[in-house]
Amino acid sequence: MEIKGDLVVLRPVDEEDAAVLHGIVREPEVAAWWAPPEGFDGMLAIVMEGGVIGAIRYDEELDEDYRYASIDIFIGARHQGRGVGTDAVRTLARWLIRERGHHRITIDPAVVNTVAIKCYRKVGFKPVGTMREYERDPISGRWRDGLLMDLLARELIG
Ligand SMILES: CC(C)(COP(=O)(O)OP(=O)(O)OC[C@H]1O[C@@H](n2cnc3c(N)ncnc32)[C@H](O)[C@@H]1OP(=O)(O)O)[C@@H](O)C(=O)NCCC(=O)NCCS
Repeated sequence: MEIKGDLVVLRPVDEEDAAVLHGIVREPEVAAWWAPPEGFDGMLAIVMEGGVIGAIRYDEELDEDYRYASIDIFIGARHQGRGVGTDAVRTLARWLIRERGHHRITIDPAVVNTVAIKCYRKVGFKPVGTMREYERDPISGRWRDGLLMDLLARELIG
């Protein structure tokens, strides 16, 4: 499986990618937002110009009456702020809508993660509301608020 965007290609993480991704999740610019996972199984590598620069993942609720998908993403510090995150989220959202038939997608950045919120707004996600004390800050261990955002298929931008 390979999903092509304008800037990036998404494909399942392999063993070589996992070593690179272990390094990326330890960068301070990523570790502030992502607690290092035990592994990267089930994630998609974000590939640009032949190199792995981050990872993105989706989950699906398959109950027909509540069907939706959710997305999570991280990009290595060297590649942040260049439109790659926007392209990766847009590419996966488009695939979830077109190929997996989803009508709704959610994403849940920390309320203080202004770059992530800006990125998701560019794809068409809208804030739903604040989830209070939603997740632990991976650095301080304190609870912090999350912003639930969702996107309906007809609202996808680009
Ligand atoms: C959040 C993240 C995925 C966004 O991807 P990105 O490639 O860095 O973002 P983009 O370059 O697509 O930028 C999206 C918007 O944010 C703005 N932005 C990017 N970096 C910024 C910064 N340091 N300060 C202010 N705005 C910034 C961009 O300018 C852009 O808006 P614009 O086009 O209107 O100018 C990425 O930064 C990341 O992985 N961060 C660390 C982990 C993380 O926070 N994951 C998300 C958890 S929910």
